[in-house]
Amino acid sequence: MKPIITQLEERISSVLTELIGEPAAAVVKPTQDPKFGDYQANGVMGQAKKLKTNPRELATRVVEKLDLSDICETPEIAGPGFINLRVKTEYLTASLTALLNDPDRLGVDTHPEAPVTVVDFSSPNLAKEMHVGHIRSTIIGDVIARILEFLTGKPESIIRQNHVGDWGTQFGMLVAYLKQTHPEVLDQPESFEIADLGVFYQQAKLAFDNDEAFRKQAYQETVNLHRHHDPSLKIWRAFLNESMHHCQQVYDKLGVTLGPEHTRGESAYGELLANVVSDLDKAGMLKESNGAQCVFMDKFKNRDGEIQPLIVQKSDGAFLYATTDLAAIRYRIDQLKATRIIYVTDARQIQHFDMVFTCARQAGWVPPAVSLEHVPFGSVQGEDGKPFKARSGESIKLKALLNEAVERAQSIVEDKNPDLPENEKAQIAHAVGIGAVKYADLSSNLVNDYIFSWDRMLAMEGNTAPYMQYSYARIQSIFRKGDIEQDHSSITPDNISITDPAERTLIRTLLRFNEIIETVGHDLRPHLLTTYLFDLSQNFNTFYNACPVLKSEEPLRTSRLFLCRATASVIQAGLNLLGIETLEKM
Ligand code: ARG
Repeated sequence: MKPIITQLEERISSVLTELIGEPAAAVVKPTQDPKFGDYQANGVMGQAKKLKTNPRELATRVVEKLDLSDICETPEIAGPGFINLRVKTEYLTASLTALLNDPDRLGVDTHPEAPVTVVDFSSPNLAKEMHVGHIRSTIIGDVIARILEFLTGKPESIIRQNHVGDWGTQFGMLVAYLKQTHPEVLDQPESFEIADLGVFYQQAKLAFDNDEAFRKQAYQETVNLHRHHDPSLKIWRAFLNESMHHCQQVYDKLGVTLGPEHTRGESAYGELLANVVSDLDKAGMLKESNGAQCVFMDKFKNRDGEIQPLIVQKSDGAFLYATTDLAAIRYRIDQLKATRIIYVTDARQIQHFDMVFTCARQAGWVPPAVSLEHVPFGSVQGEDGKPFKARSGESIKLKALLNEAVERAQSIVEDKNPDLPENEKAQIAHAVGIGAVKYADLSSNLVNDYIFSWDRMLAMEGNTAPYMQYSYARIQSIFRKGDIEQDHSSITPDNISITDPAERTLIRTLLRFNEIIETVGHDLRPHLLTTYLFDLSQNFNTFYNACPVLKSEEPLRTSRLFLCRATASVIQAGLNLLGIETLEKM
């Protein structure tokens, strides 16, 4: 089903285009106040000048030519030239029936023509355990991948890439430290075991920070790695496996859609870096500056008006983060055949990606049809507005954070539902704790810094995961109470009656699910979905307070049960796309 809003926009735009004689787009928005109808078109006004008429006059001419009679009542012109549109009752009931008859997609069309898309997310720097700084990319990227996958209906066209930092000095440091402290591993570098990578990393880092000679060795080991020298390379691989194993535990606990098959770290591009530099040279884009190889692009000037170069090779021959990203763009376009590449990182990397994208385009590596998109997000702060850290000042490990979330949810469950069997309590605690962490992150506008607050994210009231999960469970309990098995396949528009404004508002909101999912897929702003779900559940509450369900007479009872069913399905599908579990009981 094409979203109602899209149909309205398309039809009004085509009338406008005809009248004006050049392409013109109308903007249609859902209204907040029923006295303006359900939708309002307001792109018409700006176009009036072109016809040397006033906006109201133009709106009148548009409405004369417009045929929306299959969807809307007669359009009304309001104020200076808004067009107010009210969807016909028959259209609402027919569309709701179609939604209920389409339980897998709930009215969201598939877009098999959508581009092959790479989503680069999570991508932690390895060797250390994942900490709170990695959480947003992991959660947001996962949701973007899920939604795009759902929209295309072709999972194989969404390619997840975990661009882990597995090739930096931190690994040279670990290898050097291992060689120093456990020289015996040189005899069997594949089989050594590290009891606690975190502790080992800390000790190595201490040596690195305080011991000049050791630091030199660490750099030397990094060079050895990049030259693929054994046994350094074998030791590196063992560290890498151990470190990825830790990440995978976090991914599994979080329930994000990342597995080993999605990892393609920086090291994978090692062989391609020299070519990146020489191809930039061939394109005439390379300049030496203080011994380093740089690309100067006019767009990037500092405050003094000097161009800030993108450095692709240091004077000692080492390649940089940007060089790897350039190689990765080429790989993704040439080998993976991607025509949309999405990067999910924090906002501190805005400039990095802007430079890398510009450079790759200038070098001619990015066909015009390929879109490169950076999705930046703000940092995680504590309730005091400072960077979110443990009391010791260290960054908080993700594993510990997730365990705490589940423990806190567990105590809420114990409070509310002490008599549930233990395994059910544990299952609820997991879904609620992890769901709360994800939902809180996703529901904040991406560009803002995000304030981490246990109390807020676990609240049963407000725009939170527990509230949404509870809304779902409550609807399920209506069906349990009424002992009702509803059969979708038998529903027809005649089964739906609209007798109260609250029913109408609820249906109208349910029918926006496809619009919201398409918008999120396009704009990559997951909070639009959380805002929508919250709105939906509030509209459901209004309906449920105004309209008795189980106690009403037939045929109203069946109609209202169908509204309950549709609401539960949309909440479940929405939460599912956010990677959040629903519960039958809570
Ligand atoms: N490893 C990087 C970091 O932790 C993020 C990588 C993002 N992806 C990319 N292709 N650069 O900051």
